[in-house]
Amino acid sequence: MSITYLENSGIISIDTKSSTYQMRIGQHGFLQHLYYGSRIGHEDMSYLYRDYDRACAGNPDDVYPSRRISFDTMPQEYPGYGVGDFRVNAISVRNADGSYGADFRYVGHEIIKGKYSFEGLPSSYDAAGDAETLSVTVRDNVTGLTLELLYGVFEDEDIITRAVRFKNDSDKEMLLERAFSVSLDIPYGKWDLIHFHGKHTLERQVEREELTHLVKVVESKRGTSSHQENPFVILADRAADEDHGSCIGMMLVYSGGFRAETELDQLGSTRLIMGIQDDQFEWHLGPGEVFEAPEVIMSYSCDGFSRLSHNYHRFIRNNVCRGKYKLAERPVLINNWEATYFDFDDEKILALADEAASLGIEMLVLDDGWFGKRNSDDSGLGDWYVNESKIRCGLKSLIEQVNKKGLKFGIWIEPEMINEDSDLYREHPEWAFAMPGRKPVRSRNQLVLDMTRPDVIEYLYGCIEKLLTENNIEYVKWDMNRSLSDVYSNATGPERQGEVLHRYILGIYELMDRICTNFSDILIEGCSGGGARFDAGILCYSPQIWCSDDTDPIHRLIIQYGTAFGYPVSAVGAHVSASPNHQTRRSTPLHTRAVVAMSGTFGYELDPGKLSDDEKAEIREQISLFKKHCGLIHSGLYYRLTKIKEDFYEAWEFVSEDGSEALLNVVVTDPQPNSPLMNIKLKGLDPDGVYVLNDESMSKHVYAEAHNPEGEERTQISGDALMNGGYTLPWLAGDYPAAQVYFVLESK
Ligand code: GLA
Repeated sequence: MSITYLENSGIISIDTKSSTYQMRIGQHGFLQHLYYGSRIGHEDMSYLYRDYDRACAGNPDDVYPSRRISFDTMPQEYPGYGVGDFRVNAISVRNADGSYGADFRYVGHEIIKGKYSFEGLPSSYDAAGDAETLSVTVRDNVTGLTLELLYGVFEDEDIITRAVRFKNDSDKEMLLERAFSVSLDIPYGKWDLIHFHGKHTLERQVEREELTHLVKVVESKRGTSSHQENPFVILADRAADEDHGSCIGMMLVYSGGFRAETELDQLGSTRLIMGIQDDQFEWHLGPGEVFEAPEVIMSYSCDGFSRLSHNYHRFIRNNVCRGKYKLAERPVLINNWEATYFDFDDEKILALADEAASLGIEMLVLDDGWFGKRNSDDSGLGDWYVNESKIRCGLKSLIEQVNKKGLKFGIWIEPEMINEDSDLYREHPEWAFAMPGRKPVRSRNQLVLDMTRPDVIEYLYGCIEKLLTENNIEYVKWDMNRSLSDVYSNATGPERQGEVLHRYILGIYELMDRICTNFSDILIEGCSGGGARFDAGILCYSPQIWCSDDTDPIHRLIIQYGTAFGYPVSAVGAHVSASPNHQTRRSTPLHTRAVVAMSGTFGYELDPGKLSDDEKAEIREQISLFKKHCGLIHSGLYYRLTKIKEDFYEAWEFVSEDGSEALLNVVVTDPQPNSPLMNIKLKGLDPDGVYVLNDESMSKHVYAEAHNPEGEERTQISGDALMNGGYTLPWLAGDYPAAQVYFVLESK
């Protein structure tokens, strides 16, 4: 039993393998938060908290005449609104009588076997059949607004999920103006906030900020989870690092705009809240109606960030991703985007397929430009039928020919978008978002389809169903290339426009769900102008997401480093592209590009016809090396061995959970004259074992002149030595050299 209730003290404890989360049903039905940290068994943690009369803090009527109890100072599971808690608020509600008030008191709770699920929102699931749910009901006794606070408990995974169902138990409508998924009060400690900011072509850069008394906001108002911030944040003890210290992760399972706020309050208590973005949000909750706030995946690590990342990686791979490919080896693909952009025809694609097949590539993905009159990014979106001036032989025949060469076939779509220059727009201009009397803002010359409309969903489903039924398509790259503006649905009355942004996301989920259910063998790769929708919501439908439109490997080190704090390497879409790189014009060795792309799904995004024979031979070696290690890379433990941009090289490691093998990866980002030694301490090995070393990239090294490769190289080193003394790499020279060293446990 991971959830226990002690009736005498009113304590509800949730225990995972190494964490405890505790709340108390206090006097007058106050639901107080007591503890989230290292596992402490069933100790009643209420002694941690002391009530005082805090002069300027208001007191609820039912504690009168005591002045010691105040919502403003009490640690709470889910705070109310407008009744004396002046900290950041998780809910904002306008009641039928016009008042802004909610005072939640405990009504009851249930401990249920299995994991709760949602109606229209994606969420994690109980893969092993051993999860439990805690459902706690609190109610505002004046208005009847009832909250079901949900906790999904995955004991072995050290994961607790949280979500809220808002129910109107009255006969009058109320208006939710903010309905967040989580609030967490931490009365003690000094914390930093880690968040992942970015831009198009440089997503998820790590930023760590000390929490001060200023409220901090991490958010996206773009209708997508966004390039600019990610719906994943970490609260870290000020002293925490990769291997030490407390940290708490919060990851929202949602693909639209979101908002997280932290407040260090007047008395040193920290509150973190997170949920759907409340800007342009207003939800009418009619009598008996329920609003579901998306899930937050929460994890606690007492051993720093590595352990926290491992918890998320395991959980996302096993309990968030679905379908045939969630744990399976993914095909090594070639994507024609950076090879051809819009300039291709069937002959070019078949030539690409010939080259790809001869290199050992397993799938060809036809990117943007195959449909409608799509010869540039100004037209065609919405017309999901083949562009016969380019694919003259027809799509079916093209795919058959590609398949005959031994390659699977994948295709790009961007269902949520529409160009004004398209048959679809000419027929249905009212299907695009536009505010009355205003010309909508174009982005990449495209507008956004109103995904709240059932007729739009039906049209898109019909197009995709036809495409997938008539053709042997085994992979879909599902793109979405702009932020949402001019959000206004013609199918919704003026008073409900505040629901449109969220209903848009529900529409996408409905469409993705139908596709995944009816075409369950298809591998979907999420995408959004690179990585603007890299979130756990999308991962419920696609086990991999194109990580960034920046394929420069030196930038990718930064992007993939930040991404892997929360998301597994198996989800990170990563390709080897041409040099000089198309985004930065930087030149890098083919070997380095592959070392970086191997820390992801691995594929190519270049024209192999332009490569030399030596480069082609190298690609063949890369593919066989990746296939040898992809199990280790995708399901092993991932360790960051350097802190990004702190040194002249970056290093990271994959190690199997049993410590029997490890792959060390290094890229020199700033080659040094008279170089300091690159000494790297490995992690996760068997201290008592002896490891045999194999430099997988030996022939690709450019050694500095001072290095003597003829010298004796140690080929066997103990796990203890590698973890404590480390491994010292040879002196690598040249432009951005890389190395991969494979360690295999030989004996104990
Ligand atoms: C987005 C994607 C790219 C490519 C283009 C095509 O930018 O991220 O990979 O598919 O669209 O237009």
